[in-house]
Amino acid sequence: MTETQIISNTKAFVQDTLKNAEGGHDWFHILRVYNNALHILKSEEADAFVIQLASLLHDIADSKFHNGDEEIGPRVAKAFLESQSLELDIVDHVIKIIENVSYKGGHNISDFYSKELDIVQDADRLDAIGAIGIARTFNFGGFKNNPIYDPDISPHPNQSKEEYKKSNSPTINHFYEKLLLLKDKMNTTTAKKIANKRHEFMQMYLEQFYKEWKGEL
Ligand code: ADP
Ligand code: NI
Repeated sequence: MTETQIISNTKAFVQDTLKNAEGGHDWFHILRVYNNALHILKSEEADAFVIQLASLLHDIADSKFHNGDEEIGPRVAKAFLESQSLELDIVDHVIKIIENVSYKGGHNISDFYSKELDIVQDADRLDAIGAIGIARTFNFGGFKNNPIYDPDISPHPNQSKEEYKKSNSPTINHFYEKLLLLKDKMNTTTAKKIANKRHEFMQMYLEQFYKEWKGEL
């Protein structure tokens, strides 16, 4: 099989697997991350094939939607990749990226590093901020039936991984617990620039939100 065929099979597999996914973690999230990654790659030296496979498969079975099982994503991705007659070191690299890409309160303890991981991670983080980030966050909060905002419940920006994962706090708190922290976590220059713009947009959004909340018309 050619690389083009494998990418095309991967797209079809992901699109089908995620057909009933929550709106913020669906095929369109994958497609945006894939496009972000290819955009970042234009200014970096890295393996395009690995980046494409990893961005397409990075949320194939998110633990949030599978009772916290953090092994299911890498397992499903591995089974798929093994069906595509790929070299073992490519499969291993893609799986390592999938295992390490996630935010989870910023508590990832792994010594794996690759330029390709940096790029896919930035691509995923960019989709968590700005206008799209806001939409995804409220969609997820609604999906969990969390309140939009409660002035009596303060954000906890330094939560443990367990607290972060089981949090049912208001969705506005998630901005302080994750979204506003992301611009300083970008790995590449390209992503840092885009993140700064998206960060400003979220700050403007929050200012307006509080004004309207307080009835300042
Ligand atoms: P990662 O998968 O990178 O660890 P998450 O899956 O926690 O990061 O977050 C992915 C997106 O899901 C977030 O950017 C946000 O839009 C949404 N999300 C996750 N947790 C929450 C939450 N507690 N409240 C609102 N949105 C959330
Ligand atoms: Ni993602």
